[in-house]
Amino acid sequence: MEPSHLLSTRDLSREDITSILDDAAAFLPSNAGLVSVAPILQGRNIVLAFFEPSTRTRLSFETAAQRLGASTVVFHATGSSVEKGETLRETFRTIESMGFDALVLRHAQNGVHHELAQWSTMSIVNAGEGSLQHPTQALLDAATLREHFTTLEGRKIAIVGDLRHSRVARSVADVLLRCGAVVGYCAPDQLAPTDEQFQHMPRFADVAECCAWADAIYMLRIQRERMPPSMVIDDDAYRRSHALTADLAASYPRLAILHPGPVNIGVELDAEVLDHPSCLVHRQVTHGVAVRMAVLQRLLHS
Ligand code: CP
Repeated sequence: MEPSHLLSTRDLSREDITSILDDAAAFLPSNAGLVSVAPILQGRNIVLAFFEPSTRTRLSFETAAQRLGASTVVFHATGSSVEKGETLRETFRTIESMGFDALVLRHAQNGVHHELAQWSTMSIVNAGEGSLQHPTQALLDAATLREHFTTLEGRKIAIVGDLRHSRVARSVADVLLRCGAVVGYCAPDQLAPTDEQFQHMPRFADVAECCAWADAIYMLRIQRERMPPSMVIDDDAYRRSHALTADLAASYPRLAILHPGPVNIGVELDAEVLDHPSCLVHRQVTHGVAVRMAVLQRLLHS
């Protein structure tokens, strides 16, 4: 049987998205604690390979897999034979030869996940791909917003910050639009997206305009690790026009505030914003485990 993959939000229909969000909602911890889950992935073996740093995605995939009864192994690129010149293809073939059912992969290079899915017998789960895709992040964001607003239909969501280098922005805009939301954005010219995906969306001059327009604001960090060395950001100018300060957030107590993390406090967001009455940043993390449970169930439970 061909393995199932999750490579891109574009592989998912609106019905697929709704079905994943519904399954994830059933996995969410309630006030009474964790729901008891049948170990439906017992006997399945999942390897987590992160070639870039991660806290939320790696931990939540590992937690999700274990809650479903799967066994997990973490591959650390640092200290592996990658450092001795082994090619990525050979590294993946080596992992595959150990009999894993799924590879949860984060890699900085665009296209690696699709290339691997051409020949791998493992299910490939995209946990972050260069500047292109982060599908489970988009799904957990949609789950968080759906819980908060009940429906995404007609809700106005503004994405603010470094959209140019952001795989999260590309994935989340795609999912939210297909769930019926209206998506706008603001970014300084240097960090504005140039791809077609954003061409027809409303663009705002600054974060204050976004706050006045939106039901929810989705803040992004500046992704310096993906910038060319020649790109220099004026941090003070950035903060003046694109940071969600404590004062600005306090003027909009009903504005839902999201951020995929990690947050760079004092750059795109003030610390006080994390205590705003409608800040959903930590709720996103909770949804992350449930959504990844739903995704693993869908790919690996036969
Ligand atoms: N949002 C996100 O991908 O966070 P991590 O880099 O901590 O996994």
